Amino acid sequence: MHDLRDRRIVLGLSGGIACYKSAELVRRMIEQGATVDVVMTDAATHFITPVTMQALSGRPVFVDAWDARVPNNMAHIDLTRGADAILVAPASADFMAKLVQGRADDLLSTLCLARACPLLVAPAMNREMWGSAPTQRNVTQLSADGVVILGPGSGSQACGETGDGRMLEPHQLLAELIAFFQPKSLSGRRVLMTAGPTIEPIDPVRVITNRSSGKTGYAIARAAWEAGAQVTLVSGPTALAVPYGVTRIGVESARQMYDAVLAAAPDSDVFISVAAVADWRVANIASDKIKKDDHQPPALEFVANPDILATVAALPDGPWCVGFAAETQLLSKFAHEKRLRKGIPMLVGNLAQHVMDADETTVSIFDDTGEHPIAPGTKYDVARLIVQAIAKRLPARRR
Ligand code: CTP
Repeated sequence: MHDLRDRRIVLGLSGGIACYKSAELVRRMIEQGATVDVVMTDAATHFITPVTMQALSGRPVFVDAWDARVPNNMAHIDLTRGADAILVAPASADFMAKLVQGRADDLLSTLCLARACPLLVAPAMNREMWGSAPTQRNVTQLSADGVVILGPGSGSQACGETGDGRMLEPHQLLAELIAFFQPKSLSGRRVLMTAGPTIEPIDPVRVITNRSSGKTGYAIARAAWEAGAQVTLVSGPTALAVPYGVTRIGVESARQMYDAVLAAAPDSDVFISVAAVADWRVANIASDKIKKDDHQPPALEFVANPDILATVAALPDGPWCVGFAAETQLLSKFAHEKRLRKGIPMLVGNLAQHVMDADETTVSIFDDTGEHPIAPGTKYDVARLIVQAIAKRLPARRR
């Protein structure tokens, strides 16, 4: 994936021990296709050298406002023109205070003042500095000035104390930066989702499950968060990392998934049901491991699981529902029928044999106006298109 393809980012480093994380950050930004110009304050060079940042960014690093390499001596203007954003990470307490005052006494602060692009800052400082009245005043003022504040995180700090003020991790800053450039079509919406398989016990050591990897659901959860939604993901067991920003509730069986979804549904605007829910569970679950003593196959009895999607769709004043159908044949026919049977306004259908555990996918959207194919692509590309399709159809705020 190249989520920052064709993006030019100015990465500013002010003084702080978190500068070591910015080395990893620049590497990850470049992996995503960005062109990164690094600008450092003098204080930042005490924590990490410009040589390191130059080697990782593959471009000259700027520290001095009087840099003779810039022919017109206008580095503070040239570097931001054509940039898609300036990201200052780490942003020290002192640097944020400078931004608030509009001071321009070094290259990075001058650049921020002279910018013609958005500014994002990732604070990094001791917890007392972060909690202090001046810093909090400055954060409020920066937000009011349209500066995007990323974090900070919480946890153990370089000084040995624990609390708020850690710079976000490189992968978190990368996720924030990628999301910054996505359209906010679900801004303020609360999205509830299911994803992955369910597992139904047979005895204490054996289960029945299915081959759902959870990739599509996790990609949609990420895309919905990037689109500005607050996302709760009720997930069966998968090997996937929880997308940054998403709240995951782990479940195993269909009934656990049902309980978790029904508890969260009243507070949700949208329910996206991607999980491959077992239609049946074992009625006679053995309390001890089934032995093969008599060499007879065990006789399993089954009982139907509740249909989570149909139940949510029938809730009075419930969320707007999106279903999924993985079929192996007659996709159009089965998908239309399933949408009507479940009582939902939108269903995403695909042919299971083409997508199970794959990274690429092909889907169609089914609604009351017919079938709408979505351009094939990676599960992330398609997830973003599905989120846009949901946002387009979603009625104005429900309550
Ligand atoms: N679903 C659900 N609860 C179930 C079964 C399915 O919420 N117990 C949801 C799935 O998450 C998906 C949609 O319903 O969004 C379609 O599921 P599927 O199992 O394909 O449909 P079924 O109604 O079970 O039909 P069939 O098995 O005949 O294909």
